[in-house]
Amino acid sequence: MNLDDLPYAIEPMQLSDVPTVHSIERRIFCTAWSLQAFRQELLFHDTAIYLVLRYRAGRDAGGRPLLKKPWGTRKDPNLLGYGGVWMVLDEAHVATLAVRTSWQRRGLGELLFAALIERALEKGADEITLEVRMSNRSAQALYAKYGLQRTGLRKRYYPDNQEDALIMSVQSTQSASYRESYEARVRKLLQRLRLTEAPDSREAGQASGRIDTP
Ligand SMILES: CC(C)(COP(=O)(O)OP(=O)(O)OC[C@H]1O[C@@H](n2cnc3c(N)ncnc32)[C@H](O)[C@@H]1OP(=O)(O)O)[C@@H](O)C(=O)NCCC(=O)NCCS
Repeated sequence: MNLDDLPYAIEPMQLSDVPTVHSIERRIFCTAWSLQAFRQELLFHDTAIYLVLRYRAGRDAGGRPLLKKPWGTRKDPNLLGYGGVWMVLDEAHVATLAVRTSWQRRGLGELLFAALIERALEKGADEITLEVRMSNRSAQALYAKYGLQRTGLRKRYYPDNQEDALIMSVQSTQSASYRESYEARVRKLLQRLRLTEAPDSREAGQASGRIDTP
C-alpha cells in the first residue's frame, strides 16, 4: 500500500508509542488494555503485528512534529490510531483497532484495517477473524467491507456489561478472488483519501490536543 502522496504514514508500533496508544485506548474502550499489556505484546508476542497511523503533514522538513507535545508528556498528537493482529498459523485474529475520536469517519480506521490485512496476507494468512461487540455497528460495517461475515457468537463475552460478541471471519484470503476484491477496496479508499481535504495541521493539533491529549 503506497501512501507517499497522502499525509499519513503507517508504521510498526514502537515501545515509545505505547503511552499515546494507551491514552487513546483509555478514552475509547470500557475495558482498556493496560500500558503493561501493550508493552508485553510488543516485547514478547512474536507473532503479533501492531501498527500505528501517524499524521505526517504534522512534521516539518526535519521530521520534527509540528504539533508540539505538551510539556512533560511523552504523548504524540500525530499518532491518530492503532491496530493489532495475532497470527496463529494461517489465521489472522484482529486483536484491536481504534482511531482517535476526533479523527473518526475520515477513512482512517479503514486504512489501518486494510494495512493490518495486508501485513497478515504477506505472512500467509488464509483466514481473518475477530470478535466485535454486538452493538458496534460501525466496526461491523467496516469489517463487512473487507468480506468478513458473521460466523458465530460468544455469549456474554465482554466483562463490563456482559454483552455478546459477534465472531466475524473471512476465509480463503490467499485466493486470487479475495486479493482482487481487497485491492479494489484499497484503491477506492486511497482515491477517497486523496480527494479528502487533509485538515490543516495546526487545526488538527488543536482538535486532538483538546479532545485526546491530556
Ligand atoms: C471502528 C473504527 C476504528 C472505524 O474508524 P473510522 O476511521 O471512524 O472509520 P472510517 O471512516 O475508516 O470508515 C470505514 C467504514 O466503517 C464503517 N463506519 C465507520 N463509522 C461508521 C459509523 N459511525 N456508522 C456506520 N458505519 C461506520 C463504514 O462502513 C465506513 O465505510 P464508508 O465510509 O464507506 O461508509 C472507529 O470508529 C473506532 O475507533 N471506534 C472505537 C473503537 C472500536 O470500536 N474498535 C473496533 C473494536 S472491534
